[in-house]
Amino acid sequence: MEIRTFLGDITKFECDAIVNAANTSLLGGGGVDGAIHRAAGPKLLEACRKFNGCETGQAIITWGYNLPAKYVIHTPGPIWRGGGNREEELLADCYRNSLELARDHDCETVAFPSISTGVYHFPLDKASEIAVRTVKDFGQQPSIIRQVTLVAFDAKTKEYYDRALQRI
Ligand code: APR
Repeated sequence: MEIRTFLGDITKFECDAIVNAANTSLLGGGGVDGAIHRAAGPKLLEACRKFNGCETGQAIITWGYNLPAKYVIHTPGPIWRGGGNREEELLADCYRNSLELARDHDCETVAFPSISTGVYHFPLDKASEIAVRTVKDFGQQPSIIRQVTLVAFDAKTKEYYDRALQRI
Protein backbone atom coordinates (compact mmCIF):
# COMPACT_ATOMS: atom_id res chain seq x y z
CA MET A 1 0.00 0.00 0.00
CA GLU A 2 1.48 3.31 -1.13
CA ILE A 3 1.30 6.25 1.34
CA ARG A 4 1.99 9.72 0.01
CA THR A 5 1.30 13.37 0.77
CA PHE A 6 -0.33 15.98 -1.44
CA LEU A 7 -0.72 19.74 -1.07
CA GLY A 8 -4.17 20.92 -2.10
CA ASP A 9 -7.92 20.95 -1.63
CA ILE A 10 -9.33 17.54 -0.72
CA THR A 11 -12.74 18.46 -2.21
CA LYS A 12 -11.13 18.43 -5.63
CA PHE A 13 -9.16 15.23 -5.05
CA GLU A 14 -10.09 12.32 -7.33
CA CYS A 15 -10.10 9.05 -5.41
CA ASP A 16 -12.59 6.41 -4.23
CA ALA A 17 -13.11 7.90 -0.77
CA ILE A 18 -12.15 11.15 0.92
CA VAL A 19 -12.25 11.41 4.69
CA ASN A 20 -13.98 14.32 6.40
CA ALA A 21 -12.74 15.74 9.70
CA ALA A 22 -16.27 16.01 11.01
CA ASN A 23 -17.77 16.76 14.41
CA THR A 24 -19.91 14.41 16.46
CA SER A 25 -23.16 16.01 15.25
CA LEU A 26 -22.27 15.20 11.61
CA LEU A 27 -24.23 18.34 10.69
CA GLY A 28 -21.31 20.13 9.03
CA GLY A 29 -19.17 22.97 10.28
CA GLY A 30 -16.23 25.06 9.19
CA GLY A 31 -12.83 23.99 7.95
CA VAL A 32 -12.60 20.92 5.76
CA ASP A 33 -16.04 19.78 6.99
CA GLY A 34 -17.62 22.94 5.62
CA ALA A 35 -15.68 22.71 2.37
CA ILE A 36 -16.72 19.10 1.78
CA HIS A 37 -20.39 19.83 2.47
CA ARG A 38 -20.33 22.85 0.16
CA ALA A 39 -18.71 20.86 -2.64
CA ALA A 40 -20.85 17.74 -2.19
CA GLY A 41 -24.13 19.65 -2.07
CA PRO A 42 -27.16 19.45 0.24
CA LYS A 43 -27.71 15.72 -0.23
CA LEU A 44 -24.64 15.08 1.91
CA LEU A 45 -26.20 16.76 4.94
CA GLU A 46 -29.42 14.84 4.31
CA ALA A 47 -27.48 11.57 4.32
CA CYS A 48 -25.56 12.52 7.47
CA ARG A 49 -28.72 13.33 9.38
CA LYS A 50 -29.75 9.68 9.18
CA PHE A 51 -26.86 8.66 11.46
CA ASN A 52 -27.89 10.80 14.44
CA GLY A 53 -24.29 11.76 15.03
CA CYS A 54 -21.07 9.81 15.41
CA GLU A 55 -18.76 9.33 18.39
CA THR A 56 -15.22 10.68 18.38
CA GLY A 57 -12.89 8.16 16.76
CA GLN A 58 -15.71 6.29 15.02
CA ALA A 59 -16.50 6.65 11.30
CA ILE A 60 -19.49 6.51 8.99
CA ILE A 61 -19.65 6.46 5.20
CA THR A 62 -21.91 8.26 2.72
CA TRP A 63 -21.95 8.80 -1.03
CA GLY A 64 -19.86 11.72 -2.31
CA TYR A 65 -22.72 13.25 -4.38
CA ASN A 66 -21.25 16.22 -6.32
CA LEU A 67 -17.68 15.50 -5.18
CA PRO A 68 -15.22 13.77 -7.54
CA ALA A 69 -14.84 11.10 -4.82
CA LYS A 70 -17.37 8.26 -4.80
CA TYR A 71 -17.63 8.18 -0.99
CA VAL A 72 -17.09 10.47 1.98
CA ILE A 73 -16.02 8.85 5.24
CA HIS A 74 -16.91 11.10 8.18
CA THR A 75 -14.88 10.76 11.35
CA PRO A 76 -14.94 13.16 14.32
CA GLY A 77 -11.41 13.67 15.55
CA PRO A 78 -10.57 14.33 19.21
CA ILE A 79 -10.31 17.89 20.50
CA TRP A 80 -6.81 18.38 21.95
CA ARG A 81 -7.14 19.02 25.68
CA GLY A 82 -3.51 18.57 26.69
CA GLY A 83 -3.12 14.87 25.97
CA GLY A 84 -4.61 13.35 29.08
CA ASN A 85 -7.97 12.38 27.57
CA ARG A 86 -7.03 9.52 25.23
CA GLU A 87 -6.63 12.06 22.40
CA GLU A 88 -3.78 10.13 20.74
CA GLU A 89 -5.69 6.83 20.91
CA LEU A 90 -8.86 8.42 19.53
CA LEU A 91 -7.01 10.05 16.65
CA ALA A 92 -5.50 6.68 15.71
CA ASP A 93 -9.04 5.24 15.86
CA CYS A 94 -10.17 7.85 13.31
CA TYR A 95 -7.58 6.68 10.79
CA ARG A 96 -8.02 2.96 11.48
CA ASN A 97 -11.84 2.99 11.48
CA SER A 98 -11.90 5.10 8.30
CA LEU A 99 -9.55 2.67 6.52
CA GLU A 100 -11.61 -0.32 7.64
CA LEU A 101 -14.79 1.31 6.26
CA ALA A 102 -13.01 2.14 3.00
CA ARG A 103 -11.78 -1.46 2.71
CA ASP A 104 -15.25 -2.82 3.40
CA HIS A 105 -16.60 -0.65 0.59
CA ASP A 106 -13.96 -1.90 -1.88
CA CYS A 107 -12.13 1.43 -2.08
CA GLU A 108 -8.69 1.21 -3.67
CA THR A 109 -7.70 4.84 -3.09
CA VAL A 110 -8.36 6.93 0.03
CA ALA A 111 -7.47 10.54 0.93
CA PHE A 112 -7.30 12.01 4.44
CA PRO A 113 -7.12 15.63 5.58
CA SER A 114 -5.01 16.43 8.62
CA ILE A 115 -7.63 15.39 11.15
CA SER A 116 -7.95 17.44 14.37
CA THR A 117 -5.04 19.81 13.63
CA GLY A 118 -7.22 22.81 12.80
CA VAL A 119 -10.07 23.94 15.03
CA TYR A 120 -9.38 20.98 17.34
CA HIS A 121 -5.80 22.16 17.98
CA PHE A 122 -4.12 18.74 17.97
CA PRO A 123 -0.34 19.39 17.78
CA LEU A 124 0.81 18.79 14.20
CA ASP A 125 3.97 16.90 15.17
CA LYS A 126 2.02 14.35 17.21
CA ALA A 127 -0.95 14.16 14.81
CA SER A 128 1.22 13.54 11.75
CA GLU A 129 3.13 10.74 13.53
CA ILE A 130 -0.08 9.09 14.68
CA ALA A 131 -1.59 9.35 11.18
CA VAL A 132 1.45 7.85 9.40
CA ARG A 133 1.97 5.12 11.99
CA THR A 134 -1.69 4.06 11.95
CA VAL A 135 -1.90 4.04 8.15
CA LYS A 136 1.37 2.09 7.91
CA ASP A 137 0.19 -0.45 10.48
CA PHE A 138 -3.05 -0.91 8.55
CA GLY A 139 -1.02 -1.38 5.36
CA GLN A 140 0.79 -4.37 6.89
CA GLN A 141 -2.29 -6.48 6.25
CA PRO A 142 -3.24 -7.20 2.62
CA SER A 143 -6.33 -5.27 1.54
CA ILE A 144 -7.88 -3.77 -1.56
CA ILE A 145 -6.62 -0.33 -0.55
CA ARG A 146 -3.56 0.34 -2.70
CA GLN A 147 -3.00 4.05 -2.10
CA VAL A 148 -3.54 6.43 0.82
CA THR A 149 -2.94 10.13 0.30
CA LEU A 150 -2.48 12.54 3.22
CA VAL A 151 -3.78 15.84 1.85
CA ALA A 152 -2.36 19.00 3.41
CA PHE A 153 -4.04 22.34 2.84
CA ASP A 154 -0.88 24.34 3.54
CA ALA A 155 2.86 23.85 3.10
CA LYS A 156 3.64 23.75 6.82
CA THR A 157 1.22 20.88 7.38
CA LYS A 158 2.62 19.01 4.38
CA GLU A 159 6.14 19.36 5.80
CA TYR A 160 5.07 17.64 9.03
CA TYR A 161 3.51 14.73 7.15
CA ASP A 162 6.51 14.39 4.83
CA ARG A 163 8.80 14.33 7.85
CA ALA A 164 6.66 11.72 9.60
CA LEU A 165 6.67 9.58 6.43
CA GLN A 166 10.47 9.71 6.28
CA ARG A 167 10.89 8.95 9.97
CA ILE A 168 8.43 6.10 10.44
N1 APR B 1 -8.83 20.43 1.88
C1 APR B 1 -7.91 19.81 2.68
N2 APR B 1 -7.66 20.18 3.94
C2 APR B 1 -8.37 21.22 4.42
C3 APR B 1 -9.35 21.91 3.66
C4 APR B 1 -9.57 21.47 2.34
N3 APR B 1 -10.47 22.04 1.54
N4 APR B 1 -9.88 22.90 4.45
C5 APR B 1 -9.25 22.85 5.63
N5 APR B 1 -8.33 21.85 5.62
C6 APR B 1 -7.39 21.45 6.66
C7 APR B 1 -7.07 22.47 7.71
O1 APR B 1 -6.15 23.45 7.19
C8 APR B 1 -6.43 21.58 8.76
O2 APR B 1 -5.08 21.33 8.42
O3 APR B 1 -7.96 20.39 7.41
C9 APR B 1 -7.24 20.28 8.62
C10 APR B 1 -8.24 20.03 9.74
O4 APR B 1 -8.77 21.27 10.18
P1 APR B 1 -10.35 21.47 10.52
O5 APR B 1 -11.10 21.45 9.27
O6 APR B 1 -10.45 22.66 11.41
O7 APR B 1 -10.73 20.15 11.32
P2 APR B 1 -10.47 19.73 12.84
O8 APR B 1 -9.27 20.39 13.43
O9 APR B 1 -10.55 18.24 12.82
O10 APR B 1 -11.74 20.32 13.60
C11 APR B 1 -12.99 19.76 13.31
O11 APR B 1 -13.97 21.86 12.80
O12 APR B 1 -14.90 22.36 10.81
C12 APR B 1 -15.19 21.97 12.09
O13 APR B 1 -17.21 20.71 11.90
C13 APR B 1 -15.81 20.62 12.13
O14 APR B 1 -16.33 20.79 14.43
C14 APR B 1 -15.44 20.20 13.51
C15 APR B 1 -14.04 20.76 13.69
